[in-house]
Amino acid sequence: MIFGRVKPLDAILATAEKKSLHRSLGAFQLTMLGIGAVIGTGIFVLTAEAAQKAGPGMMISFIIAGVVCAFAALCYAEMASMVPVSGSAYTYSYAVMGELIAWMVGWALILEYAVAAGAVSVGWSGYVIGLIEHTFHVDIPASLVTGPFDGGLINLPAMLIAALVTWLLVIGTKESATVNAILVAIKITALTVFIILAVPVMNSAQFSPFAPTGVIGVSMAAASIFFAYVGFDAVSTAAEETKNPQRNMPIGLIGSLAICTIFYLLVAAGVIGAPGLSTQPVTDAMGHALEPGSRELAAQCASRAAEGFKDVVCSKEALAFTLREIGWPQIGNLLGLAAGLALPSVILMMMFGQTRIFFVMSRDGLLPAAFSKIHPKFNTPHVITIITGIAVALFAAFFPVGQLANISNSGTLFAFAAVSIAVMVIRKTDPTRKRPFKTPFVFITAPIAILGCLYLFISLDHKSIILFLIWAAVGLLVYFGYSRSRSHVGRGIVDVSEHQAYEELDPPVPGTH
Ligand code: ALA
Repeated sequence: MIFGRVKPLDAILATAEKKSLHRSLGAFQLTMLGIGAVIGTGIFVLTAEAAQKAGPGMMISFIIAGVVCAFAALCYAEMASMVPVSGSAYTYSYAVMGELIAWMVGWALILEYAVAAGAVSVGWSGYVIGLIEHTFHVDIPASLVTGPFDGGLINLPAMLIAALVTWLLVIGTKESATVNAILVAIKITALTVFIILAVPVMNSAQFSPFAPTGVIGVSMAAASIFFAYVGFDAVSTAAEETKNPQRNMPIGLIGSLAICTIFYLLVAAGVIGAPGLSTQPVTDAMGHALEPGSRELAAQCASRAAEGFKDVVCSKEALAFTLREIGWPQIGNLLGLAAGLALPSVILMMMFGQTRIFFVMSRDGLLPAAFSKIHPKFNTPHVITIITGIAVALFAAFFPVGQLANISNSGTLFAFAAVSIAVMVIRKTDPTRKRPFKTPFVFITAPIAILGCLYLFISLDHKSIILFLIWAAVGLLVYFGYSRSRSHVGRGIVDVSEHQAYEELDPPVPGTH
């Protein structure tokens, strides 16, 4: 039977019990962990893309994406508290819905993590280049700092930061709780300063027309801006280390999402309302909004800039740009510095997640064993880290940030929907198992999460949807051509030692140990 290859939950859990981490995290730490993982390129960079898609209506898009994430987060938390081991959605699916679904989820998570790391690298590049140009009054050739789809040739800084983070991961760098706290403080301070300076001077006339591209534009912007919320799963994977998870998990998940949503809405309002800026979508001669990250938009932006328009949708560093234009150039530069310092930690977390999922899949026999080789000195899975790093650097070098974010979202939405299905299935198949956290009203919450993911998925741009489908088809070919016959579960080798070996690596959730 196709769904028959289930990895017994007890075998997976045996590891976790042996490991038995100290329950030390409270609601506050969980919320900080969530905010640390969530705030990144989404708000700093994709705000401009969302404005290009929906105009001021992007504020509704932020709310829609946040609500879908909240429902998915509640489902994630139950699975994470029951199966508090590494591998996230891949592991949950293996235990509940069998190997094929688990494989597809793991395959989709490659899009989520590796492509997202590429997107954040491109976002980082935009801010750092803007900072260098404005601080040293130099003009760096666009061809070297933007990819070919975006009007340039290659994004060298984005490639470099991906390479640097790869090196840090190979030598075993982990983000400590202290570093996480400092970076959260930097990000929150940057956004707070932005809000304090931009919101009071808002010009309400800028909010009209509110939704120039209609419901479709708002939905498309929601599907893109969903990226700004990705990362909260770091909270649910810390379930095992949480004091009183039934109370603190939902506070940590919903709390971090709620705080991010409020920040995002205020920042979005500040950007839209900034006096003197054009915040409506840039259109072609026919009046159609141009596609973000396209050569057409880049060309139109260049000619409008020459005419003196200040289009926030054309900026690669929307928040710094806004501050400079409303009369705070130095603070705009400092905000660029804050993004430059804080975004690499989001890249690190994403790549870390990617390498660990590859690692678990390789230990399960679904990917070549060479992937899970451990470096003798650094004790890190260096082979897979370097392969991941090369892929991330190539994505970052050649693709526009919004396209990468959308592709990443397609994988994430698939994984979230799979977890939301899994949580209902296991309520039926294994109702008595201990659940440190139970999703409230699961048979209402989970279907809403699934429908929300579906709605956002179909609101993605066509290229991303087609790419996801091709990726899924390739995944099936690899599974049936390679993985299925080599699977340890399929060959009857289910020993906990493989997970044990994984757990001996660095802990999977940065900032919690
Ligand atoms: N939510 C993360 C970001 O916006 C991925 O960068």
